[in-house]
Amino acid sequence: MQPSVYVAMSADLIHPGHINILRIARETADKIGALVVVGLLTDSAIASYKRLPYMTFEQRKAIVQSLQFVDRVIPQETLSYEPNIRALLPRFVVHGDDWKSGKQAVEREAVIALLRELGCGELLEVAYTSGISSTQLNENARALGIATNARLSLLRRLVRAKAPIRICEAHSAISALIVQEAFCMDNGQKVEFDGFWSSSLTDSTSRGKPDIEAVELSSRLQTINEIFEVTTKPLIYDADTGGRIEHFAFSVRSLERTGVSAVIIEDKTGLKKNSLLGNDVVQMQENVADFCDKITAGKKAQITQDFMIIARIESLILDKGQEDALNRAFAYRDAGADGIMIHSRAKTPHEILEFVASFRAKDSTTPIVVVPTSFNTISAKDLASAGVNIIIYANHLFRASFVAMRNVANGILAHDRSSEIEPQCLKVEEILRLIPGTV
Ligand code: SPV
Ligand code: MG
Repeated sequence: MQPSVYVAMSADLIHPGHINILRIARETADKIGALVVVGLLTDSAIASYKRLPYMTFEQRKAIVQSLQFVDRVIPQETLSYEPNIRALLPRFVVHGDDWKSGKQAVEREAVIALLRELGCGELLEVAYTSGISSTQLNENARALGIATNARLSLLRRLVRAKAPIRICEAHSAISALIVQEAFCMDNGQKVEFDGFWSSSLTDSTSRGKPDIEAVELSSRLQTINEIFEVTTKPLIYDADTGGRIEHFAFSVRSLERTGVSAVIIEDKTGLKKNSLLGNDVVQMQENVADFCDKITAGKKAQITQDFMIIARIESLILDKGQEDALNRAFAYRDAGADGIMIHSRAKTPHEILEFVASFRAKDSTTPIVVVPTSFNTISAKDLASAGVNIIIYANHLFRASFVAMRNVANGILAHDRSSEIEPQCLKVEEILRLIPGTV
């Protein structure tokens, strides 16, 4: 095996700091007659600790491969260097010295220990290039926004790269900004929402209209355009029944043109009512053949490769049982659906988990989507371990804002002044500074 010098990188936003590391790797390799091998982190490796890279693996590979300092590019499938180091036994591993502190420090320790164990080579740390950082470049890129096609393709890339994908409802630009920025730290890793859900329930309710397909596509697209003006994450559109087959084909194209990543249509017919009402109201399920025709018509109308049509099954909502749900799932998949959404209004996740286990026994790849509004005690991680890909929190921001607004409105009347409810409100100084450009 020819000796090698190993450099791991994401190479999404290449800057002079990366070039400096590669140059030093090249000089080191030339002294000992070795190859410079770049371990390029795959989308899944990157998505396991932060957002998806802007460019796909193939695009990043094409760039790194063309750099004069690099001999070979191989995938690094995990954050851990271990598999590639064991395979290559490099004479040197080169890295910027910025990983001595922060979240990469653990990986650094692991690399040092592994090199010691294998006795093959050593770690060479390159002084950090000041004045430029990927974090700053990322912030600049985010400020510029995202192109329509790039946003559209994000969901399919996310599905390939990781699970769970966490999607949160947004019914306005400001609610979407809250979703975009929300995060928590879990064992040193940042957890964020991966995208937005345009809910028919909250989009209708926020306009004071019932959730019966009464708000037309153009109004809903206007909200989505406002959301897209200020965010960069992908969006899944709740298209109710999808309407008539002939109309659905046009809707698919309008959604694609806007940059929406996926549409979910539910297998109901007649006047659509919200699923969480179950059999308390009259709800009719569409027959399988007609719904398959609608899926196929949508797929034919589609103009991009990446747009997804997801078929939503209402069998459990309407107490038709697991077998009916499964038969429909396989029929819809065979008609061309890019994913299956299985819905439930049960208070526990049992029927969803039963469906997912049966479906996964026969199909390990078709993405599964769930909306755990009523079965809300199961975590996203546990749903993903069971085989679910996408988890949609379908209405929570709207419901939260409604309660907050009603309390404040009633409070002003009750006290005949606003002083008492002031602690429940965003501070005026904060609202003035919330949106860049206000001050
Ligand atoms: C929505 O959010 O509009 C949905 C999900 O379709 S549900 O309300 O649970 O039917
Ligand atoms: Mg809906």
